[in-house]
Amino acid sequence: MTKRYIRHASELVTCKGQAPKRGKEMSDIGLIEDGGVLIHDDKIFAVGTTEELDKMINPDEYEIIDATGKTVLPGFVDSHTHFVFGGYRADEFTWRLKGDSYMSIMERGGGINATINPTKNATEEELVAVGRERLNRMLEFGVTTVEGKSGYGMDCETELKQLRAMKELDKIHPVDIVTTFLGPHSVLPQYKGKEREFIDMMINEVMPKVKAEDLAEFADIFCEKGVFNIEDSEYYLNKAKEMGFKLKIHADEMFSLGGAELASRTGCFSADHLLKASDEGIRQMAESSVISTLLPATAFCLKEEYAPARKMIDSGCAVAIASDLNPGSCFTNNIPLLVALGCIYMNMSIEEVITALTINGAAAVDRADQIGSIEEGKKADIIFLKYPSINYMPYHTTINLVETVIKNGETVYHKEW
Ligand code: NIG
Ligand code: FE
Repeated sequence: MTKRYIRHASELVTCKGQAPKRGKEMSDIGLIEDGGVLIHDDKIFAVGTTEELDKMINPDEYEIIDATGKTVLPGFVDSHTHFVFGGYRADEFTWRLKGDSYMSIMERGGGINATINPTKNATEEELVAVGRERLNRMLEFGVTTVEGKSGYGMDCETELKQLRAMKELDKIHPVDIVTTFLGPHSVLPQYKGKEREFIDMMINEVMPKVKAEDLAEFADIFCEKGVFNIEDSEYYLNKAKEMGFKLKIHADEMFSLGGAELASRTGCFSADHLLKASDEGIRQMAESSVISTLLPATAFCLKEEYAPARKMIDSGCAVAIASDLNPGSCFTNNIPLLVALGCIYMNMSIEEVITALTINGAAAVDRADQIGSIEEGKKADIIFLKYPSINYMPYHTTINLVETVIKNGETVYHKEW
């Protein structure tokens, strides 16, 4: 057995406790000063102060990792991304800078549909190659688990290819990948006005194959004005649930359509975006098991108003934060940017932001029993920051402070400053 002992962390953030954390509980990050962690193989064996752990062990049996002057945290869980795609859409970013909107670009054939052809034309190997590069960037930011969606194929072959590429990446890369089927991501021109037919095609022809190959755990839909309406989204989500998929939804991003309410009544694990969630939607999320996943880097890139995180937390919601890395609305997976936006513009405390990026992200991908906190029995997915306190995260604004990443008990990334 490999035994490692992290000693003398200036601040050890455990995030332990019942998941997800809702409302006020989000402030409780279980911080231990002069903390330590015992790792046995790929799992966390014990957590406490260095003094407590010193008494428990024979140091000769352990590889000692000195964390003096460092903050130690659970690995981040990026619970909403679209990281496997072909091509880029830099032109759209430039158009938006000149005043175009995301939806107007989409209406004239750009947007998501513009990523379909490059993704269709890429081989699975090419998708694996670009996916690997993006996972490497995530790891540098301390992300140890990521959720990835299909949705740039819209036909059976390409959707399956995207999901297979992610399954392959999960095998060959240290970052764990949770896969989501997002067939109804946009409406192809030939299906305009016939959205239900498109959804039925996905349900009858594509999703049974996804299930048969066990390619995706979650099903998701882009519920939005001009994309899939509430009725069609509800129909899809209920069918997906019957087929055994867990549910997610892109909800209330540009318009207040009732996506948060739909997420609550269909039993989604998470409702994502939520910039325009209604008060009633917020109330329903607070009272249901839905996690409110906020994607502030997308709002930032689209110059939209941020989701009402403060109102959500004060109402008792469980908030997660994720990057939404994708080729259109948000081509960044920069965790320190999410920290800055959460603290500065969404009025969240750093403790709440940390909860949103760890244990609540883990709950949003139904992994809270395995990851998202530094607790006995969980995977040893642990990161070290260069500085001694969590307060440096918003203070050293948008600077990546991650120095070391331990995944499944092994050091997989280390930065020399
Ligand atoms: O979550 N809103 C829909 N889907 C993505 C954008 C995907 C794209 O523009 O390629 C999102 O922001
Ligand atoms: Fe998204």
